Parts: sequence; structure tokens; C-alpha cells
Amino acid sequence: MKVDDVAYRTIWCDDDGWSVRVIDQTRLPHHFEVVSLTSLDAVGQAIRAMMVRGAPLIGAAAAYGMALAMREETSDAAIDFAYDTLIATRPTAVNLRWALDDMRERLRNRPHDARVGIAYQRAAEICDEDVAINSAIGDHGLALIREAYEATGKDRPVNILTHCNAGWLATVDWGTALSPIYKAHDLGIPVHVWADETRPRNQGAALTAWELGRHGVSHAVVADNAGGHMMQHGMVDLCITGTDRTTAHGDVANKIGTYLKALAAHDNGVPFYVALPSPTIDWTVTDGVRDIPIEQRDETEVTQIAGRAPGGEVVTVQLTPDGTPAANYAFDVTPARLVSGLITERGICPASAGGLSALFPEHASEAISDQQGVASPAKLPSA
Ligand code: MRU
Repeated sequence: MKVDDVAYRTIWCDDDGWSVRVIDQTRLPHHFEVVSLTSLDAVGQAIRAMMVRGAPLIGAAAAYGMALAMREETSDAAIDFAYDTLIATRPTAVNLRWALDDMRERLRNRPHDARVGIAYQRAAEICDEDVAINSAIGDHGLALIREAYEATGKDRPVNILTHCNAGWLATVDWGTALSPIYKAHDLGIPVHVWADETRPRNQGAALTAWELGRHGVSHAVVADNAGGHMMQHGMVDLCITGTDRTTAHGDVANKIGTYLKALAAHDNGVPFYVALPSPTIDWTVTDGVRDIPIEQRDETEVTQIAGRAPGGEVVTVQLTPDGTPAANYAFDVTPARLVSGLITERGICPASAGGLSALFPEHASEAISDQQGVASPAKLPSA
């Protein structure tokens, strides 16, 4: 996507052929800054500190982390060390494990002197694949927005609520949940996005608002707790979120607060769709609430908040009384029964084992059969 008329991806290999450039997302929305990552350690730190974040981008960054590690040392032990270092950075987004498994597999049993080249080539391919996948997600999701627009009688914008940031900043390009929105906007279908602020790190207020604004998409930030009220009053036609790990049965882990939006959507008959690239599917897990590891982050993300002071400098202030403890659960799991459908690069399917394995038959043998059968997608609101 473009920033001030310059096309950017969120991660790329520099002209020197080896250092890795990323947009530092901890500096947005007040500063747009590109930084260089030049070692395995630097990539690990960047993922942990959420300089790069969003499940697909974490996977792409880890792939480049492996490539940088190979520059330092090409032994089998170095492959394993890089794998172990990077896998420990963030536990919920399964794209991390997917990318690392893929890289390790391709590097093992290959001549040592070929490993650097193989690693950089595969990391670049993972990035290109992510862009193509997300563009396809946009094309499939566009049909839902078109349908919702028809349902309005074409006399007002389609109101779409999203949570956290599942836009191009969370991927290599396009985004997942926001990709259909960009496609609709670019085709002249009027859309308006309600962006949940997404405490505690405010990815909605800082990142989703920034990228939608740069692209000229109508939007407003709402407090996380506003969604239920807005759905009760017909202000949301459609919810679309991303996911960090989707089980073989269609449960979806996503940023904390997603589950509450899905409950409110269910109670109000608002369709709730989740957009995901196939590397986000964990075919080894069926029960998301029981088996998806939920990241817990530093309590200061809850007790403090950062923002731009009137003088222009970005400052962090304390919200809670001195010494107040906080718990910081970063993700929650929305059960498949609350999800109207999954938007993937191969099309939209019910959030169920049957739905996913019909779209991805090559994984059907891995996915344990779904007793509930194929879920029925929720209806779009009538005009
Ligand atoms: O903690 P984050 O900012 O990495 O969480 C990001 C999300 O929850 C996104 O919704 C998810 O990764 C999907 S991104 C396309």
C-alpha cells in the first residue's frame, strides 16, 4: 500500500541484499520510521517488542530472522538455535511456527554453503505468497461487502466493524480483514469502518486508523465497549476481524475483546466473519478455548498509555494508582459457532471442520472430523 505516494510493504530485503527493513510499528501513528534489522537477535527483539506484529507479518519476519541467522553461522545447531529463539517470541500467532517449520525443513540436509541463499530466497517467497494470499482474501471478501451494499438499497455506506489491526501493517501487504474493505473502496463501493481502539496496545486507534486514513477510507475509532450498543442500534452491517490461530474446527484466536464482539454480533443478528490466510490454520488443534496458548504480556501495557502530548513529543503516562497490579491477556478465542464464515484465499467457508477441509482437502486427513457438521452462515441483514 502507499504512504505519501510511495508503495511500501511492511518488510523487505534492503538493496545490500541481506539486511532486513521493516516499518517500526511502535512509532506509529505519530512517526513513520523504517528501521534495519541485521541479526537474529534484532529480529527476535523486534517481534517481542511488537515493532513488527500481526500474525502473517510475524511469520515473514521470523523467516528473515532465520536467513540472518544463517549469515552468522550455517551449522545444524545454528538452525535449531534460531528456531528456538524465534519460536519463543510470541506464543499465540501460529504463522510463526508455520514459517519456522517451513524454513527449518528447507535448510536441513542441504549443503552448508547453500543455506544462506536458500534461506533468503524462501523468506522472499513467503513474503510474495502472503501478498498474493491476502489479495485473494480481499477478492473473496469483497462479495460480502457487495451483498451488504445491495441490502442497504445502495443508499448509504456499508458499516463494517473491525477489531485490532488486521490491515496491511499486520501482513506483508493488503491485510486480511481490511483487504476486502480496500478492494471495495477502490471499486467505489462506499464503506465506513468502525475501528475498535483495542486496548491495551491500541492497534485499532493507532494502526487501523492510520492505514485507513492514508488510503482515504471513511472510518471512526470507537471505544472497545461501544460495539454492542452500536449493533443494537443497527449501526453495524458486518463485522470482519483477523485471527492469529484458527483451529481445524474453525475456532478463532484473535486480539483480546474479539470474543465479546462475536457475542454481541450473534445476539443482534450481525454477520461476524473472520479473514485468514491458510498458514493461520493450526490443523493440529481442534478445541481453541482449551488448546490455543494465550499470550500474557507485561502489565505496564495495561497500567500505562502512550500518546502525543500538546508539545508534539510522544509520552507515556500512568493510568492506575501506584502499585496497582494488572493482568494482560493478549488474545481470546471465539468459538466456531459464533463465526458466520471464514474468508480464506480459496473462498469463504463455514467455520467448521467440514468447511475448512472442503477448501483445503490436502489437510483433510489431519483435521479430526467435526461432529457438528457444516455450520450455516449467518444471513446478511435485510434492507
Ligand atoms: O498483538 P498483535 O498486534 O500482533 O495482534 C494482531 C491481531 O490480533 C490481528 O488481528 C491478527 O494477527 C490477524 S492479522 C492479519
